[in-house]
Amino acid sequence: MQLGGKWAFRFSPTLQYESDGFEQVQFDDAEWDRLEVPSHWQLRGYGQPAYLNIPYPIPVDPPFVPDENQTGDYRRTFDLPPSWAGAAAVLRFEGVDSCARVWLNGVELGVTRGSRLPVEFDASAALVPGRNVLAVRVHQYSSGTYLEDQDMWRMSGIFRDVVLLARPTSGIRDVFVNADYDPATGGGRLSLEVDAQGPVTVSIPELGLSDEPVGGPFEFARVRPWSAEDPYCYGATIASGDERVRLRVGFRTVAITDQGVLTVNGERIVLRGVSRHEFDPDRGRALTRETMRRDVELMKQHNINAVRTSHYPPHPYFLDLCDELGLWVVLECDLETHGFEYTDATRWERNPSADPRWRAAYLDRIERTVERDKNHPSVIIWSLGNEAGDGENLEAMATWVRERDSSRPVHYEGDRMARYVDIYGEMYRTPATVARIGRGELKPGECFYPAAEGEGDPADDRRNRMPFVLTEFGHAMGNGPGGLTEYAELFWHYPRVQGGFIWEWIDQGLRTRDAVGREFFGYGGDFGEDLHDGNYICDGLLFPDRVPSPGLVEYRKVIEPVRIGPGAEPGVIEIENRYDFLRLDHLRLSWSLSHDGEPVASGPLAVPDLAPGQRAEVALPEWIVPATPDTGERWLMVRAELAEKRPWAEEGHLVAWNQFQLPAIQQPVTTRLSGPHVPAEFSGGQITLGQARFDARTGTLVGFGDRPITGPRLGLWRAPTDNDRAWGQRDADYWSARGLHRLRHRTVSIEVADAALTVVVRSAAAALSCGYLTTYQWRSDGERLHLRVATEPVGYWPQREDTFDEAMVDADLPPQDYAELVRRNKAPSLGRVGLDWVLPADWTRVRWFGAGPTEAYPDSRRAAYIGRFEASVQELQTPYVRPQDNGNRAEVRWAEVTDSAGAGVRIEGEPLFNFAARPWSDRQLAAARHQSDLEPEGSIFLRTDHVVQGVGSAAVGPGVLPQYRLEVRPAEFALTLAPLSA
Ligand code: GAL
Repeated sequence: MQLGGKWAFRFSPTLQYESDGFEQVQFDDAEWDRLEVPSHWQLRGYGQPAYLNIPYPIPVDPPFVPDENQTGDYRRTFDLPPSWAGAAAVLRFEGVDSCARVWLNGVELGVTRGSRLPVEFDASAALVPGRNVLAVRVHQYSSGTYLEDQDMWRMSGIFRDVVLLARPTSGIRDVFVNADYDPATGGGRLSLEVDAQGPVTVSIPELGLSDEPVGGPFEFARVRPWSAEDPYCYGATIASGDERVRLRVGFRTVAITDQGVLTVNGERIVLRGVSRHEFDPDRGRALTRETMRRDVELMKQHNINAVRTSHYPPHPYFLDLCDELGLWVVLECDLETHGFEYTDATRWERNPSADPRWRAAYLDRIERTVERDKNHPSVIIWSLGNEAGDGENLEAMATWVRERDSSRPVHYEGDRMARYVDIYGEMYRTPATVARIGRGELKPGECFYPAAEGEGDPADDRRNRMPFVLTEFGHAMGNGPGGLTEYAELFWHYPRVQGGFIWEWIDQGLRTRDAVGREFFGYGGDFGEDLHDGNYICDGLLFPDRVPSPGLVEYRKVIEPVRIGPGAEPGVIEIENRYDFLRLDHLRLSWSLSHDGEPVASGPLAVPDLAPGQRAEVALPEWIVPATPDTGERWLMVRAELAEKRPWAEEGHLVAWNQFQLPAIQQPVTTRLSGPHVPAEFSGGQITLGQARFDARTGTLVGFGDRPITGPRLGLWRAPTDNDRAWGQRDADYWSARGLHRLRHRTVSIEVADAALTVVVRSAAAALSCGYLTTYQWRSDGERLHLRVATEPVGYWPQREDTFDEAMVDADLPPQDYAELVRRNKAPSLGRVGLDWVLPADWTRVRWFGAGPTEAYPDSRRAAYIGRFEASVQELQTPYVRPQDNGNRAEVRWAEVTDSAGAGVRIEGEPLFNFAARPWSDRQLAAARHQSDLEPEGSIFLRTDHVVQGVGSAAVGPGVLPQYRLEVRPAEFALTLAPLSA
């Protein structure tokens, strides 16, 4: 009997010790409010949600909690149907945050802690025929709070289902399914541990098992194994005298080879994973089934094959979906004590993980985790918890798991020397460090954090012989993560480097409104918290409303399970099957050819029958490849799509793609002027050059024909991204100290000669000497306008000694590379080098030929392809929860910005350029806290950038890799402007 729905509810902002008799049957709750179960009361008008990462929301005074401890009293009645008369029953709560005392008809059933863990109370003795009264008192904090210091919204209440379960006398109390697959024979072996009174049988019709005594084990000569790629389950029924239990059985064997490789069914797997909190912008962690399904579908659609349930067991239905649709699951226990790391003089002092008084609580948590989820084939790894330091209680958990379930390896990242785990996990290590781990070159005892050096033979350290996963990587806060490709390459290269889990799946922004009623996604500090961690809660691959961010689109591309690459010679492409189990017969391949971004021709390609790991060359239709005497660019796109509908995607869903530029005899000539150059002339305070008019004093463009275009001004700054602002990078600080957001411009000279207007401008900020000296040289053929820009740094640009962070630099490189990397990290950096233009507010249409349609930065560029695209200025914005630089379009050949009738300007670049266009300035973008703060400023602000810096993932993790950093240095580039008429 489901007991969800409206419950009577009474809220108290402080601790209530004594009961006023509300648990009694006759108590009158007519005056109470009504609250939906499941839900968090802070999202229903009682108290406020609070976001904290590491710090505890309570004084660190274990195991006590303050009196300011919100209390929610719940009451609900239900009618027991006559058919239940005399039945034994248990009352089950799937999740109550943080603790509860439960009464049925005035009889106390017990107390529970462990917010994301199930609890069952024996209700048999207290149940009565007819009307029953259930009363629950919930507290915001309890001793359990010390074990639940996860980085998330702190919210309370009965937030998962409540159910009353009838328990027949000879019912089945527990089943433990072990279904192994033997890849050598293709056979399956099933054993069942059953806790029940009386005889129990099992039936699996598809395997010819019918009412067999559960004894087993049962051997099957041939079974179809379960994997995340082919999640095949057999329907099983376990029956006792009074009860039938339906189960989904998936045959699979998880193992670690002698070489330290994690395998499933004998195959090495690569975890292309994400860390998932349960989150909904309106409901918090009280998710609907639709939302859970949506998460799994979105993951599958984006080539994600693994999920780490950070940092607690999810709603059980989510695991049913993982079984059914296919995801590898690292199932994490509800445990984190991170707040102890920084509380006292010594790190991790008083940490419960090392205090025997907490042992029973730790064991209770892991036991409830494993017992609840042990029958899910999708669960392949147990994780003891997250960031709970180290200690014997964790070790005891690992021992308990091994005794109870020897079929799955144990993970816990905090076991830094991997003493009691089977899988070595680290967070946020740089690609070079991961490569060294992949080579098995960890120094014995070496610990990354806190740093320590070991000596001796790497063979002594067992971590060099274990499977390695990035427990977290690719921190997806704001614009980013950059640099995912570098990780994925390691997954394909080093057998023991078996993937990882992006932090994290979804931005946890809560939908709310400001004082004037504008809706936005709130983060830490938006709910009046005394203590909070700001927007670190918005660090996901999905925006809070589950719209994929560019980071997810990039990840999908980087981890695609089919690599489509160039072949050894022209005319062929190479296809590599990067699935772990599937052949490619579920896909269809096709090619399409474009000329200057316009589609020309397309057709199918034969799918090579490749086993996982195999590659083959596929020939293209012969006529495509030879260079043609065309002008313009020819691009060949090859796509791999689903040949048939799957439960998580439609037929035709794009799985993998790649694009190749084909040879052309004549490269495009687009940026030169066509006719003879016209002279520049002074007239009435202005200079005219063809259709262009310049201010005679400053030399800036003030109009182009009748188009009020102004500019350009040199731009070196971008509205700092979360990664630019982060401690590992500190670019934002450097830029702001150099005043790059407040440049002033001094026209040094204006010269009219040789049919060219040459303007020299020095750009620098108040109080500083550093800046750039730029020469703008303009020419025109009477119609088009050509601008050549040469710019160079001037003045004092200090090195960044202060911000150099040894931990972010990789010491594992050859000495000369290391020296270069250190040099680059210390070198003065810029957000971009480009030009800023101001255009009329109604020029809101943009067309371009270049990389698109998605935004792209040098280190998050893979998901964009070369083509012709069109978007409104509004559509070009990426709504990062905290506004920041976004929307860069890369490798642009030309862009047209026009009004709705088509009047505007066309800009061609030489070489390719980047652009971004917004209805607000970058300074407004940087100052805004939320999307709803942004107000159009009456112009379109267009940036044409010669170069931009990568984004990295320094918010937590490595900064922009050296090859994607933008150093202060001279630059030269050119643009051609052409007027467009309606
Ligand atoms: C990790 C932690 C996550 C999250 C992340 C930063 O250390 O495990 O829960 O806090 O850092 O966003």
